[in-house]
Amino acid sequence: MPATLTQDLASVDLSDHAIWRDDPPYEIFARLRAERPVHWSPLSQFPHEAGFWSIVRHQDIREISLDFETWSSERGGVVLVDDIGVPLDMVRMQPIAQDPPRHDRMKQLFQQAFTPKRIAAHAEAIRAIVDHAIDGVAARGECDLVEDIGAHVTSRVIGSLLGTPESDDAQLVEWSNMIVGFEDPDYRPEFDQLMPELARAFEYVLPKVTERREHPTGDLVSALAHAEIDGERLTDEEMVLTFGLLMAAGNDSTRAVYGSSMLALMKHPEQMRMLQEDPSLIEDAVEECLRCFPAFAYMRRTATRDVELHGQQIKEGDKIALWYLSSNRDETVYERAGEFDITRGRVQHQAFGAGGRHFCLGAALARLELKTMLERTLERLPDMQLAGEPVRAQSLFLNQHKRIPVRFTPTG
Ligand code: HEM
Repeated sequence: MPATLTQDLASVDLSDHAIWRDDPPYEIFARLRAERPVHWSPLSQFPHEAGFWSIVRHQDIREISLDFETWSSERGGVVLVDDIGVPLDMVRMQPIAQDPPRHDRMKQLFQQAFTPKRIAAHAEAIRAIVDHAIDGVAARGECDLVEDIGAHVTSRVIGSLLGTPESDDAQLVEWSNMIVGFEDPDYRPEFDQLMPELARAFEYVLPKVTERREHPTGDLVSALAHAEIDGERLTDEEMVLTFGLLMAAGNDSTRAVYGSSMLALMKHPEQMRMLQEDPSLIEDAVEECLRCFPAFAYMRRTATRDVELHGQQIKEGDKIALWYLSSNRDETVYERAGEFDITRGRVQHQAFGAGGRHFCLGAALARLELKTMLERTLERLPDMQLAGEPVRAQSLFLNQHKRIPVRFTPTG
């Protein structure tokens, strides 16, 4: 039965997809923040899996994110489902599912490429990619924001950094969706189809790595091909899975925030107008969009020892979810926390994580992409309106829409 606002909080099942269908259950999170900041839920969509604790307050999520010794990313990975169709040992080959010291060494391999300065150098190329996507729909007067603009842009941007050709973008989007969208049958029609697809991904990535070993080109695949940790090269599995992490993190995340942001602006036409009239608001607007619509609803950690938190006994091995979409609306941190307001000024938020070792590698890239996508959409398709019901992805992990139909005056 879907949770209701008067229901006893102890019995709320946060994993029930019914309460997420139209929007995340913000009212339930508000009650949890006030009354039950550490909450146990079953994982009812995956009944053979253990349930999980929810952490919903800003300060708690910050403290937990900083304490990797107590709260491991490696023991169980970062999603609540242990078995997403790939063995956990393989999942742990990706830095996002590692603890220090290995995590830090793996992350260092890529950090150089993602500094704000290095990312700023891609501004023109990103603008050209956004304009190309908009060119593709401008004359039609209608499109699906997610597929026709969001996915096109984010897949080409990460594809160009990885060093994969445009003709492969659609395949890479399909693989990304299949990996992280495992709860949605549109993204993964058969739950156990991932291993065969992963085998195809191996066949796709490995020849590229071999080629870049001989002829490095400065892209991320070249960085993978030449990476060494403690004098040892990465294994084939580590290379392919880390390629997969960069591909999926680059695709699903920014596409999600772009869609939700445009949706919010269409639902608040006065704010859309304000942004069109005063483009200097764009950077604050991007941060407000990230605060209100984090691409990942949560990241998981696993307790490495017994801990008591707000009166609840968390046992070693228990799963916890750090719900960014709750902490970003914590009323002890933000005034009018539930309101979307691009004039709020610069806000700190936890959309990219709450600090600590796993803070998002791609934050500068995502910010630049979002700024450019919003700016160009509002400039070139200024009277965009919703043309049908948006459809959310069925997922606890991904806070994203699969479809957002829109219309606008055709141009060009
Ligand atoms: C709006 C877009 C994005 C959002 C909201 C986002 C959010 C996040 C979050 C919440 C984490 C985990 C933080 C933690 O566990 O403490 C993360 C990690 C990561 N993100 Fe992003 N991300 C975005 C875009 C990107 C992009 C474009 C890339 C490009 C490659 C990227 C690459 C990564 C990587 C590699 C990690 C793992 C970092 C680590 O474990 O140290 N992200 N991101």
